[in-house]
Amino acid sequence: MHGTLGRILKLYKPYKRIVIFALILEVINIVTRLIGPRLTATVVNDVITDGKYEMLGGLCIAIMALTVIRSAGNYIRAMSFHKVSQDIAYDIRTGLYDHLQKMQWEFYDKNRVGEIMSRMTGDLNNVRNFLCNTFYSIFTNSFCFVGSFVFMMFMSWQVTLMVLIMAPVIALVAWKFNKKIRPVFREVREQNAVLNTRTQEDLSGMHVVKAYAREDYEESRFEHDNRNLLNKNLRASYIWSNYMPFMDMLSQLCTPITLLGGAIMVHLGHMNIGELVGVTGYIWMLTNPMRQVANIINASAQAVTSAEKIYYYTDLGASIKEPEDAVSPEEFKGHVEFDHVTFAYGDKPVLRDICLEAKPGETVAVMGATGSGKSTLITLLGRFYDIQQGSIRVDGIDVKKQKLKPLRQHIGYVQQESFLFSDTIADNIRYGEPDADMDRVRQSAEVARADEFIDEAPHGYDTVVGERGMGLSGGQKQRTAIARAVLLSPSILILDDSTSAVDMETEYEIQQRLKTVLKNRTTFIIAHRISSVKNADQIIVLKDGAIAERGRHRELMALGGIYAGMVRDQMSSAVKVEEAV
Ligand SMILES: Nc1ncnc2c1ncn2[C@@H]1O[C@H](COP(=O)(O)OP(=O)(O)OP(=O)(O)O)[C@@H](O)[C@H]1O
Ligand SMILES: [Mg+2]
Repeated sequence: MHGTLGRILKLYKPYKRIVIFALILEVINIVTRLIGPRLTATVVNDVITDGKYEMLGGLCIAIMALTVIRSAGNYIRAMSFHKVSQDIAYDIRTGLYDHLQKMQWEFYDKNRVGEIMSRMTGDLNNVRNFLCNTFYSIFTNSFCFVGSFVFMMFMSWQVTLMVLIMAPVIALVAWKFNKKIRPVFREVREQNAVLNTRTQEDLSGMHVVKAYAREDYEESRFEHDNRNLLNKNLRASYIWSNYMPFMDMLSQLCTPITLLGGAIMVHLGHMNIGELVGVTGYIWMLTNPMRQVANIINASAQAVTSAEKIYYYTDLGASIKEPEDAVSPEEFKGHVEFDHVTFAYGDKPVLRDICLEAKPGETVAVMGATGSGKSTLITLLGRFYDIQQGSIRVDGIDVKKQKLKPLRQHIGYVQQESFLFSDTIADNIRYGEPDADMDRVRQSAEVARADEFIDEAPHGYDTVVGERGMGLSGGQKQRTAIARAVLLSPSILILDDSTSAVDMETEYEIQQRLKTVLKNRTTFIIAHRISSVKNADQIIVLKDGAIAERGRHRELMALGGIYAGMVRDQMSSAVKVEEAV
């Protein structure tokens, strides 16, 4: 807890001048409050008891002046803390987002979007609340407590000590409260993240929910999680409501104690009436901080819990980082070498001892059953995951030694599931190179045979596609994604099942156009259709994570193995269709 609290406080560092200024104002504010009861005591003693009415005007003006100073100070202090806390929230949000951009694929395999979102919103707000209100409250209440204690001691040390009998009891209750409430807050925040994730996933997958008419099921799952959150929130409120009145009672008991003690002291002649009135003026300042202990613990515990969650992300260093002395090939030509590559996702082995070479300009086709590791093999090229054994070289340099940005910018990667941003088609196509002019956007779209449907779209290239490209058909999305990769004019083009939703004729045309535009570039094609891979310079067949066969179409046919079997199966189903017709 202390470590995290220290880290939260360090966030003030860039704003320390304004924070110190606000705290100085707060000190002035408290001093004016501390002087108040002293002036009241003077009014009672000198003006009322001793009849020095000529002092009354001056004293009233002094009390009014103190009130005005206090209000102005309060205003500036509140504004300053609000501004600083908003600035810090902005800093954390930016820092966290930048950090999230640096995280590797593995992080996004393991962490769900809803949870990340809840840390960026709810948790962040808890920390901001601490910086805006709680920290200042700790400062003010401590100062008030000590200040009123000292002023009261001057008036009557006996009464002050009587009041302070309550302090250890309140401290004990506060400590117990803190111990009880912290784990509950953690549960509340975690449940909040669960609910966020559920909502986010349901909304993204609403088409599936509706297609399977599973609205009731989703509602009941949501209801379950929502109720869980309600129960946890209620539990926190329950603990809170149990302790708060108790704390209130303890601190309010201080008033009768003061009055009782004060009356006795006045009666015994150790104190005058003015001092008794003054002392009662300090009771609130002395006891309110004790009351606030619960509030402060509550808000601090929430802030610490939330900060721990945020720091959990930021402390997770990106596991894939380029070394300090990272280099890039002088020229990206697209020469790819896999040298005895072995890879596992965690402890799940996927690729075994892969050796493969693709010379610049070659087309390598990767085939194999679903789940055999085709997509995985290809993701290793841009170093989205690190391999456990062997090495992968692009243009002679191990990808682990390369600068990541240029490496990835030279790979045009059309992923198996094309994701489009809620943006115009043109901006989606030039995503990799936002400065590209419309001519290049059009040319890339033509290569991907996307131009026809884009021209027919309501606003052509300026048509905004819905979230996840909802307004487009599967094949249209795939072709837009191909155009996006082509625009980069990459040295290595990867097509991971990228034409699966496109008819064979269009696919053939796209391939022909790609060949012309991306002459001398290395292409990796993952496909299931024989027609898509037949002309490749090298066909690789993966089986259980290892290369089972490799060669050209004709060689593999002659081999009569897995590939030849696939060709036979596809031919015979084609024949069967023809016979049926
Ligand atoms: N991010 C991941 N984390 C853990 N395991 C994964 C991950 N991605 C894929 N796998 C597993 O690795 C294996 C290979 O997956 P991969 O996606 O490479 O197969 P594929 O050959 O591309 O299949 P498909 O033809 O269906 O696209 C599968 O068993 C899959 O479950
Ligand atoms: Mg795949």
